[in-house]
Amino acid sequence: MNSEDPNQLVELSYVSKATQDMGLSSLIRLFDVAHKWNQGHGLTGVLFYESGHFAQILEGKRKDVLFIWGKIQKDYRHKVLHQIEFDEIDQRLCPNWALRFYGGDQIAKDVPQLAGVLDGLPNHDDELLRIMRSVAKSNQDQKESER
Ligand SMILES: Cc1cc2nc3c(=O)[nH]c(=O)nc-3n(C[C@H](O)[C@H](O)[C@H](O)COP(=O)(O)O)c2cc1C
Repeated sequence: MNSEDPNQLVELSYVSKATQDMGLSSLIRLFDVAHKWNQGHGLTGVLFYESGHFAQILEGKRKDVLFIWGKIQKDYRHKVLHQIEFDEIDQRLCPNWALRFYGGDQIAKDVPQLAGVLDGLPNHDDELLRIMRSVAKSNQDQKESER
């Protein structure tokens, strides 16, 4: 298979810093648009917001991930600090979530260790990705056990 196959499944992750105060209504507006688009384009993933930082894992076909990544990078609401990974994958971590959002109380309750990692500390990519993946995965397992 061509390594640039536009239909190859890929996973992209990044961390960014909000450029403005993201109140609840701003977060809901962002999430609504993102969730709808992802759902319509076979994208799945998780988005975290904590301490003025976002972190996201996006999975889908290369062409779809790259298209929305172009838009996300230009979005005025945040400044992308860096991409963590961009990898070809065999299967999705969270096939059932067009975009699962975690922020505020939910992070404090479910993933308290993420708050410290996201709080302006840029050198914890491995740890950040590990936590994001385990949250995405545990959600998926939970969802599957509900069936
Ligand atoms: C942190 C962050 C994450 C985002 N994630 C997504 C996403 O997963 N999917 C999506 O369609 N838009 C996402 N967006 C929104 C896009 O940047 C953009 O606003 C949206 O695609 C609409 O673009 P348009 O106004 O050019 O049509 C995100 C924005 C931010 C700030």
